Amino acid sequence: MANKIISEAYDTIAPSYNEFVKKAQYSLPQWLHSTVQTLKVTRTQWVDLACGNGYVSQQLRALGVDFSYTLGIDLSSRMIEEANRFELYSKTIVQDLERGLPHLDSATVDLFTAFGLFEFIPDEYKLLTDIQNALKDEGELWCSFEAPLSGSEVETVSLRYGDSSFEKFRKSQFTIQNLLKAAQLQIISLEKWAGYVSPSSGETVNYFYVRAKKAK
Ligand SMILES: C[S@@+](CC[C@H](N)C(=O)[O-])C[C@H]1O[C@@H](n2cnc3c(N)ncnc32)[C@H](O)[C@@H]1O
Repeated sequence: MANKIISEAYDTIAPSYNEFVKKAQYSLPQWLHSTVQTLKVTRTQWVDLACGNGYVSQQLRALGVDFSYTLGIDLSSRMIEEANRFELYSKTIVQDLERGLPHLDSATVDLFTAFGLFEFIPDEYKLLTDIQNALKDEGELWCSFEAPLSGSEVETVSLRYGDSSFEKFRKSQFTIQNLLKAAQLQIISLEKWAGYVSPSSGETVNYFYVRAKKAK
């Protein structure tokens, strides 16, 4: 039920998502700009989780990343329609990632991105272990987690949408480290940034931007 509300919320903002993130001063373009030179492979096999309207694809293409195959997955069919309209992925799938990935062969993916996703997933163990399995040995996961504003390990934020509401989960650095370790993913870098300014409350939401790879 919660995910139905989340998909409705994103269906509604799909046509104006780029304006929305611009107003929100989303810091992802700056983080990608500072991180993209660490990507050693060319002709990348890339899977973009919570691809939305293809915003991350637009950013990475502008930074000159050379993809051989790109797969975008999102819960919101309207967001996926926007991504397809601009042909931003080789293939797109509408799927609830809380249940894990669609079938992907083991050790085939160079790069997973998952920005603005994990705050919607109450238990990410299944998804993280699926990612670990599909990553090549030197492949990487680039992702974000919302950071708690309080000192709690996990902070639950209730958001209203029309007459309904849904929850987001903000996780501490310690919680993120444990989650990734449990899925046998090793952190390469973890940086705390101002993520975006919430259009509804005006508060600055902090992000942990993370790069991780398969633990050896
Ligand atoms: C904040 S947007 C992020 C979009 C893009 N990754 C970016 O960074 O601009 C969050 C996206 O997550 C998607 N999403 C939320 N929960 C999801 C779930 N359980 N499975 C798949 N996608 C989900 C939403 O539909 C929305 O497109």
